[in-house]
Amino acid sequence: MWKESRSIIFGTILLALFATAGFAANSKPEANSKSAPDGSLFKSRCALCHGADGRGKTSLGQQLKAADLHSAPVQSQSSKALHNIILHGKGNMPPFEGQLTDEQIDQVLKFVRQFGKK
Ligand code: HEC
Repeated sequence: MWKESRSIIFGTILLALFATAGFAANSKPEANSKSAPDGSLFKSRCALCHGADGRGKTSLGQQLKAADLHSAPVQSQSSKALHNIILHGKGNMPPFEGQLTDEQIDQVLKFVRQFGKK
């Protein structure tokens, strides 16, 4: 009797542990995307052309003549101007309207600004 009820309690604890672990695993990606660090969007959306380092030295970047994001001509522009370029595109740079929200563009811009400090 004692042994049986102990295994039921043990089983319940195990079940609870699994449920919490499953819940934590499920809720993680969402929490990550909400508090995404500035660099992750840049790496997934911009690095193809501009490179993870922002220099535009990827093979596609060189073909399309992607701007060096460290350069003065880029960094000297206002954040509003850069926001509009990302939103509507420029030359070979594709528009991100409908793909990134204004909030996400601002997030990516913050990351682009860090290139100006290096
Ligand atoms: C398909 C390649 C490609 C992708 C992807 C891309 N860009 Fe560009 N980007 C370019 C090219 C090419 C230029 C140069 C445009 C020009 O001056 O004609 C450019 C220019 C820029 C400039 C400088 C504009 C200026 O006036 O000098 C900024 C800032 C910029 N890109 C940011 C971004 C950001 C942020 C992303 C990601 C959300 C991104 N780009 C994604 C190709 C790309």
